[in-house]
Amino acid sequence: MTAVFLNRSGVAARRAWGLAMLLLLFAAQCDAQSNKATFEANQRLGRGVNLGNFLEAPRDANWGADIRAEHFALIRQAGFNSVRLPVRWSDYAAKTSPFTIEQGFFVRVDRLLTAAESQGLNVVLNIHHFEGLDAEPDNFKLMFKSLWEQIASRYQSRGEFLYFELNNEPHANLNEKWNDVLRIGLAAVRESNPTRPVIVGPPHWNGIWALDKLHLPDDPNLIVTVHMYNPHEFTHQGASWASPQVRKLKNLKWGAADEVQKVERELADAAKWGKQHGRPLFLGEFGAYEAAPMESRVKWTKVVAAAAEKQKMTWAYWEFCAGFGVYDTATQKWNAPLMQSLGLQ
Ligand code: GLC
Repeated sequence: MTAVFLNRSGVAARRAWGLAMLLLLFAAQCDAQSNKATFEANQRLGRGVNLGNFLEAPRDANWGADIRAEHFALIRQAGFNSVRLPVRWSDYAAKTSPFTIEQGFFVRVDRLLTAAESQGLNVVLNIHHFEGLDAEPDNFKLMFKSLWEQIASRYQSRGEFLYFELNNEPHANLNEKWNDVLRIGLAAVRESNPTRPVIVGPPHWNGIWALDKLHLPDDPNLIVTVHMYNPHEFTHQGASWASPQVRKLKNLKWGAADEVQKVERELADAAKWGKQHGRPLFLGEFGAYEAAPMESRVKWTKVVAAAAEKQKMTWAYWEFCAGFGVYDTATQKWNAPLMQSLGLQ
């Protein structure tokens, strides 16, 4: 009797174990499938351009970009698949809980999303220049959470053209806290958007070298982003917001064989990290400022875009129509050499 009983419970235990394994396998398969869907979603981002210096400028400042609905048609016709829309939400939200975002500002963003979608462009919508969060993460993380709750719930019914990027270039005091803070942002998004692809990058300004510092939660719908502006002295020479040494640099050329190799190696390192961690990669920003000699700028852009594509990374050039611009809104002309360097035109 006892033996039979033992035997029976043994069978039951084995059955339970088998069932648990089956469930685990099923869950793993679902994860693998949605991870595959995330790789596909990343591929759809394809070649993109940043609508930079626009909604990321401080509230009343003009950083030289006036982007209108008609530009989306031009961007699509030129061959881009997506736009990245950097937004300084923190300048348009109440400073105290519940940190309500102004309706009028939301309506501006709504219209841009609709204009992009109607042209068949994907949109990466981010939080950009949230300076309080970089300086004092503990004091601003609740605002970060609330901003994402509001943005994500407002756009939850938008189609798959829309991707959320948690936070541009975390740096300063946020570096050490980023892995915790990103979880807060992601959880806020996931309340209303359980599976929409979310883009997230490493601390230290989304630098490729810092990828190993990024620890991601167990969410299959994540795309990892990095930025590439190396060598910084070359890409930012003459830029007013660079350090005094870099700001005064002029006529710095780029393109020797070892320089090319260095850039290619860096992107290969990023791709290697992506493979090791099973995550798709999006090069969310790269570009060289207009003060750099044009020939070198074109070469650098070509090398970076080609290397990214070789590594199966999607990309978004920085940026559309300001200091790094590929388009001149005054003359209404594309910068042909730069566009060619991106494999467009
Ligand atoms: C970062 C900054 C942006 C700047 C760009 C190039 O995205 O947030 O303001 O223009 O890098 O330096």
